This record gives sequence, C-alpha cells and structure tokens, in this order.
Amino acid sequence: MAVRLGIIGLGPRAETLVAAMRDLPLIEVAAICDIVPERVEKMLSIFKRDGKPLPRTYADYHDLIADTSVEGVLVPTSWNSHLAIATEAMEAGKYAGIEVGGASSIDELWGLVHASERTGVSCMMLENCCYGRNELMVMNMVRKGLFGELVYAEGGYEHDLSEMALAVESGNERAIHNRFRRCDLYPTHQLGPIAKTFDINRGNRFLSLTSSATKQVGFEARAAAHYGHDGKWGDVRFAQGDVVTTVIKCARGENITLTHCVSLPRPYSRHARIQGSRGIWSEDCKGIYVEGVSRRETLLDIAGNPYEECHWDPVEKFYEEYDHPIWREYAKSGLVGGHGGMDGLVLSAFADAIRDGRPTPIDVYDVAAWMATTTLSEQSIALGSAPVAYPDFTNGKWMTRGRDATSGRFAL
Ligand SMILES: NC(=O)c1ccc[n+]([C@@H]2O[C@H](COP(=O)([O-])OP(=O)(O)OC[C@H]3O[C@@H](n4cnc5c(N)ncnc54)[C@H](O)[C@@H]3O)[C@@H](O)[C@H]2O)c1
Repeated sequence: MAVRLGIIGLGPRAETLVAAMRDLPLIEVAAICDIVPERVEKMLSIFKRDGKPLPRTYADYHDLIADTSVEGVLVPTSWNSHLAIATEAMEAGKYAGIEVGGASSIDELWGLVHASERTGVSCMMLENCCYGRNELMVMNMVRKGLFGELVYAEGGYEHDLSEMALAVESGNERAIHNRFRRCDLYPTHQLGPIAKTFDINRGNRFLSLTSSATKQVGFEARAAAHYGHDGKWGDVRFAQGDVVTTVIKCARGENITLTHCVSLPRPYSRHARIQGSRGIWSEDCKGIYVEGVSRRETLLDIAGNPYEECHWDPVEKFYEEYDHPIWREYAKSGLVGGHGGMDGLVLSAFADAIRDGRPTPIDVYDVAAWMATTTLSEQSIALGSAPVAYPDFTNGKWMTRGRDATSGRFAL
C-alpha cells in the first residue's frame, strides 16, 4: 500500500522530487499546494503528462495539512517557511519532510524540536547527499574501522550561483538571503553526511563554531556587469562574503571545516574530506588512501635520504567491496530519481518510516543541529569570528542515544 504524501511548495525542486517519485511505487502524491496558481497548474500538467492520478490542490497550506488522507508532508518551499510549516504538520500528527536550507533563528528550531517531542511524530530533512554513493561507502568503511579513529572532516557548498545577483529584482528568496545575510546559508549538503559519519546526536555532538567571511566581490560584479552602474539593481550591495569558512568543534574532539562559496566562478564541489588515524577520503582528489591497503613508497631525496610518500587510490576501486548495503540494495532497482539516485533514496527513506510508524533516519535533532549552523555562523561573523555555542537540542540524550535510535532499511 502506497504512503500518501502532500507537497507544499511547487517550485523547480518539487518538480524534480515528483520526477523521482514517478518510479517509486511506495509513494502516492495525494495533494499539492502553492500560493502561486500557475505553479499548481504546471504541476497538474506534469501529473497529466505522466498519466498519474491527479492530486487534490490547495492554495493554503493549512488546508493541505488538514486533509485527512495525507499521511506525510513534503516541504520544498523556499527557506523562510520550512520550519513553521513542518512544525504545524507535526502538530497535526503528520510526518514532515523539509527540503535543505539553514535556520534564521535558534528559537524556531526549538519550536520544531518541541513539536516532534510533544507529538512523537518525526521531522526529517530531505538531505539527499546523505544517500550519495561515495558518502554512504565512506561511512561504511569508517564503521568497519578502515579509517581508524576519526579526527577531521571538511565539506562545503561551492557552486557558481552568481546569477542570483540578477534575481534580487524579482524578490527571489534565496537571493534576498544572500543580499542581507553574511553566513553559511547552505551548510547541510556535506554537513549532513559528515554528521552521520561522526555520530552527531548519537554519542557525539556539535559543541561550538567560529565563522569568517571574506569581502564581497562576485555578486556585485555580476549585477554591475548586467545592469551597469544604474544606481539601482546594478549597484545593489550584498552582505554575503564570497567565501565563508566555518570551523565546528565536536564533543569527541573532531573538527569540521565548512566552506560556502556561491558567488565566484568555479566548478561545483561539496569539497568532502573525511580523515581518521588510518585513512582519508577527498572528493576533490577523487581518491581514498587507507594505510596498509593503498600504496606507500619509500623514495630518495636529492641527497640520497629516504622519505615516504602515500598515493591516492581512485574511489571506484573500493565500490565492489565497500559499497553501503543501502546503495547495493537500491542499485538493484535501477537507482531511480535525480542526482544519481540520491533523491529516490531519501524519499524512499521518508516514506518507509511513515509506513512502518518508525522514526525517520534523519530526525528532528539532526535537523535542528544542522540548520543551527547557519544562524550560529551569522552570529559568529557578526561578533568578529567569535566562538558561538550550539544548543544541545537533545537535552543531554546524545550521550546515551545510539545509532539504533533510527532503524529500518534506510537507517544511516
Ligand atoms: N536537495 C537538493 O538537491 C535541492 C536542490 C534544489 C533546491 N533545493 C531546496 O528546495 C527548496 C525549494 O527550492 P526551489 O528552487 O524549488 O524554490 P522556489 O522558491 O523556486 O520554489 C518554492 C515554491 O514554494 C512556494 N511557496 C512559498 N511559500 C509557500 C507557502 N507558504 N505555501 C505554499 N507554497 C509556498 C513558492 O510559491 C514557490 O512556488 C529550497 O529549500 C532549496 O534549497 C534542494
């Protein structure tokens, strides 16, 4: 029996989620909602084109949440409304699946946590990168001990989105955040998988961060090149730094460095690196080095003195032996959905938990800790890169919660 989902917010992201759901028999889209009628019409035309049953439509999300046939609510609206809608969905007894993004205040995150605790209903971030093949495989290798004791990780969102400078004029929400805020606005694509690998909220937690931002050049240059110096959109000022660097300290002693860079020309990267006492994965080097497995050779320097050099193995070399069981299982079904299968997996994980009445593999404590990074980095930068403490959203439970706090086929 399919799980009946409602979707609130029908922008481009909702379209890719619906495309991923086309091949997932576990999910039925029972209702859709957007405040913009054209978006609703466009989505209906997609369902018609695909020969799928038409969902009920709503203009007001309160009505979709009140729809008794809807079992879970997906929230791919833009950033400001995620948390209020998810909180309300849980209060109506419905699982909430929010799209990625950061928070604007710690207060709204506590509201989310309290709603989940009060109702016993899960809130999951649809962080598809947690289900990326390499992220899953490295987590698997770490848990099998190949990387030794974990020490350090890096991650980021480095994606040339400088055209957002031209979207301020239309009021695009993401552009507005970049105009007025100076912080890591989009931390979760790599922080999510790192947090899972580091057992955050399950034996470990984020303690504090410091954050620094460079000057702003990229957005302003793009706006000026497009509009000219017109005293209006061509001269609009952006608070966002081109490169924002955040260092998070964890309770078990690891550090995590995050980089946010969306306004300079560069190829896309999530800049992943996981490093332990015996191994390292580097996305940008496309390599893994494991002590005792990968090649270490002794060379001679110009004076004839020996020195040692370690060599990367290509990541692909490890797939056959260490692909995560989630990935192996899913590959058999043909890896449906966008982003190389990650979208289908994260949606399946959400629906599977609803069907079984279990906690979701990414839960409300994860959502709160990951999203807090945005608002805490904003505070740190405003205070001259001062350290800022993470709230303990688990209220101490992180010390005794294990990974079995989530279970099921898609547990991370
Ligand atoms: N996981 C990924 O790989 C990935 C990729 C792209 C975008 N995203 C995320 O998906 C989300 C949506 O992205 P997008 O590009 O589609 O954004 P968008 O702003 O283009 O679309 C959001 C839609 O939500 C609607 N909306 C806003 N407030 C609403 C409300 N109160 N009630 C009903 N509808 C409302 C808007 O009218 C709009 O149609 C963002 O959080 C973004 O960060 C994730």
